[in-house]
Amino acid sequence: MTQKKRIFSGMQPTGILTLGNYLGAMRNWVALQDEYDCIYSIVDLHSLTIRHEPKDLRQYRISLLAQYIACGIDPEKCILFMQSHVSAHAELTWILNCYTYMGELNRMTQFKEKAAKNESNINAGLFTYPVLMAADILLYQTHLVPVGEDQKQHLELARDIAGRFNGLYGDVFQIPEPYIPKVGARIMSLQDPESKMSKSDSNQNAFISLLDPPETIVRKFKRAVTDSETVVRFDIENKPGISNLMSIYSSVTGKSLEDIEREFEGKGYGDFKLAVGEAVAETLRPIQERYKDLLASRDYLEDVMKEGAEAAGYIAGKTLNKVYRKIGLR
Ligand code: AMP
Ligand code: TRP
Repeated sequence: MTQKKRIFSGMQPTGILTLGNYLGAMRNWVALQDEYDCIYSIVDLHSLTIRHEPKDLRQYRISLLAQYIACGIDPEKCILFMQSHVSAHAELTWILNCYTYMGELNRMTQFKEKAAKNESNINAGLFTYPVLMAADILLYQTHLVPVGEDQKQHLELARDIAGRFNGLYGDVFQIPEPYIPKVGARIMSLQDPESKMSKSDSNQNAFISLLDPPETIVRKFKRAVTDSETVVRFDIENKPGISNLMSIYSSVTGKSLEDIEREFEGKGYGDFKLAVGEAVAETLRPIQERYKDLLASRDYLEDVMKEGAEAAGYIAGKTLNKVYRKIGLR
């Protein structure tokens, strides 16, 4: 029997997921869980890089766990755990910090963006955030990392760190590959189709939350910024708004871009936007129902976390031990 390849990914518990998170990342995670040996984490340590209220974090962690499961992540098929429950993540991060260069971290575009947004709190954690992410991935001898386009640079850094470490001490880490979806990798804001859809956007109309009621979803799509033409045609350069809506519609219905162009030939943007809104609402409806049920089953969620932490801790511990041995700490 050939062993299944390992997948690792994670998201920060910073609020309710958006349609971008779902189409760009979560839906792939679900699709991969039969074919691969999947480990999915709620990366709560990462979210400390931005100031937070402890009570919010507590709630977001459990909520994200429920969102994962509601979206279709099955704790029977994969390991689902809270990053802070496995201390190896923090331990390996320190070690990898000593094998990562300031120059490398200085090039990270996400750091630059976040530093610009949080001028009063540019902490060292924000700077070394990608090293913690590398530790997450490398602890599990990961082959593939499903993420959206924006995480590609962090993944390349993880590969570089792993390669450097292996070069010095022999084969310690599996070198991970990114796994980025072709459709949905970058869902854009509904209000500014030049920037990505993000849950931290101050304009509520810019993003669809996984828990938005159907009326809200339809309304937000109705108000989506488009262009002054009337043709539904895919052209990212000249028609970024319509192209984004087409990608979304294609992602949730499975229809090709050509089919969509044909479907709306001779019809106005109004009809098209309504169709997109309704299709998205329909996709999210069962997820929302599941989510409500899960939040009410607190004991079940606690059990999932406990079992996940044990299973993850076992694998991570083996890698960490090997690292300690290799560098002379045993
Ligand atoms: P974040 O919301 O930045 O914590 O990202 C969590 C995951 O969702 C990462 O894998 C991102 O790459 C992915 N993601 C976030 N926003 C989008 C978006 N607008 N389109 C596609 N993927 C996204
Ligand atoms: N940095 C990722 C994000 O913002 C989250 C993350 C942390 C992650 N550790 C990871 C993603 C390991 C994939 C693998 O989306």
